[in-house]
Amino acid sequence: RRWVVAIDGPAGAGKSTVARLLADRLGYIYLDSGAMYRCVALLALRGAVEPELATPLAETAEILFDPAGIGEPQKVLLAGEDVTRAIRTPEVSQLASKVAAVPGVRAALVRLQQALGAGGGVVMEGRDIGTVVFPHAELKVFLTASPEERARRRFAELEARGEIIDFETVLAEQRERDERDQTRETSPLKAAADAITLLTDGRTIEEIVVELAGKVMS
Ligand code: C5P
Repeated sequence: RRWVVAIDGPAGAGKSTVARLLADRLGYIYLDSGAMYRCVALLALRGAVEPELATPLAETAEILFDPAGIGEPQKVLLAGEDVTRAIRTPEVSQLASKVAAVPGVRAALVRLQQALGAGGGVVMEGRDIGTVVFPHAELKVFLTASPEERARRRFAELEARGEIIDFETVLAEQRERDERDQTRETSPLKAAADAITLLTDGRTIEEIVVELAGKVMS
């Protein structure tokens, strides 16, 4: 039987890279649940909708992951439009963590995530996959790293994408987003009781992927 692998943790812990490589290795589908919250944030931004009123946007959003879209970040289509880049701006990141605090938004997206992962054979990354979306996932991983390490990675990512931003801003925005993710009432970010916690500081992605793949196959 094909497993559900849940990878949760704060922003910049390396979840996306680890989840995607692990999925490739296992022949599983990779699903980035954060991209869904980002899509709802983009819709709210474009429609000038207050985050608290974003539930209908989440309930009607036509979000599609391109299955052939290998590489990072995963290609995302919103109502047919390629929004892969548009959902990665710092502005959308902040707004995503605001719409993610709205219970109705979470309910709609969790339903979608459960439908997408129902058959197993999926590596899903997010904040609440092991606690809420798939509480019975066969493997739950809580991936984390020190705030400085995470901000360094985010900074490098943004820089590579040509965003003009300074390190202190990245660190400050990350702190703000972590705080919001950890303190919201609905599904705050935390490790599931039965999750394996991995600190990624100073470890290579390859090492971590091999360790996790071994757990799935054994
Ligand atoms: O993972 P990523 O940073 O792209 O997610 C963007 C935002 O979406 C997060 O800051 C978090 O607030 C929210 N999110 C969530 N639950 C998930 C995935 C993402 O609340 N499963």
